Amino acid sequence: MFSAQLYDTIGATYTVTRRTEPRIAARIWAALGDARTVLNVGAGSGSYEPPDRHVLAVEPSALMRSQRQPDAAPCVAGSARNLPFDDQSFDAAMALSTVHHWQDPIAGLREMRRVARRVVVFTFDAGDLGRFWLTRDYLPDLPDLLVGRPSLTELARAIGARVEPVPIPWDCADGFFEAYWRRPEAYLDESVRRGISVWARVGPDAEQRAVQRLRDDLASGRWASRNRDLLDLDAAELGLRLLIA
Ligand SMILES: C[S@@+](CC[C@H](N)C(=O)[O-])C[C@H]1O[C@@H](n2cnc3c(N)ncnc32)[C@H](O)[C@@H]1O
Repeated sequence: MFSAQLYDTIGATYTVTRRTEPRIAARIWAALGDARTVLNVGAGSGSYEPPDRHVLAVEPSALMRSQRQPDAAPCVAGSARNLPFDDQSFDAAMALSTVHHWQDPIAGLREMRRVARRVVVFTFDAGDLGRFWLTRDYLPDLPDLLVGRPSLTELARAIGARVEPVPIPWDCADGFFEAYWRRPEAYLDESVRRGISVWARVGPDAEQRAVQRLRDDLASGRWASRNRDLLDLDAAELGLRLLIA
């Protein structure tokens, strides 16, 4: 299931719930520093592309490319594994919420390093998945699906990156897996789940079991009693990371 084709299957409704979250964008754009030319690898529909720089996007899925706005940056078909650009031809390259989909993340990151003077990656620490209640209590087999994948430390080491935590605001506008940590009812919504690839990865049986148990726990008050400590937080640290090299 780690393939560039996945989003041609699951990506049809991506833009219903996935969009730029301004507070995370501010972190990413600061990490790009003074870069004037930016390559966006695994660009999808174009979230987080800075409006004030020259951006070129690379995206393997035709379905995802078709969801880019008419005024979005130009986008070419391609994959992180072989970026069709000369060495050091961009000031910066960024890869956002995409590295976990690459068949060979280390090779892809080295390609980014080759073509750009600066590399910015927004990803998650797979060793920390159980920190989030949705994984811990409803998708306990999820960490097993990532066994054998490079760790965050290995990803960072491949490009000599420093690692910064990215707290998730409680009202995060980008509907990725962890986005609704303080809005648990959102995961009962099919359109929310369809914007999150985890559900395709765990499969329909695990999805239905998780959703039914969450529905029951919300109705009985069990979710609230287990997660009382979250309700007063404005942002949560759930393992999301920026790698900056
Ligand atoms: C969750 S989406 C993220 C899209 C966008 N970066 C964003 O932040 O909304 C993951 C994207 O990675 C793309 N992708 C999958 N495999 C890839 C690869 N080997 N190289 C580049 N992109 C890939 C998918 O097609 C999909 O558009």
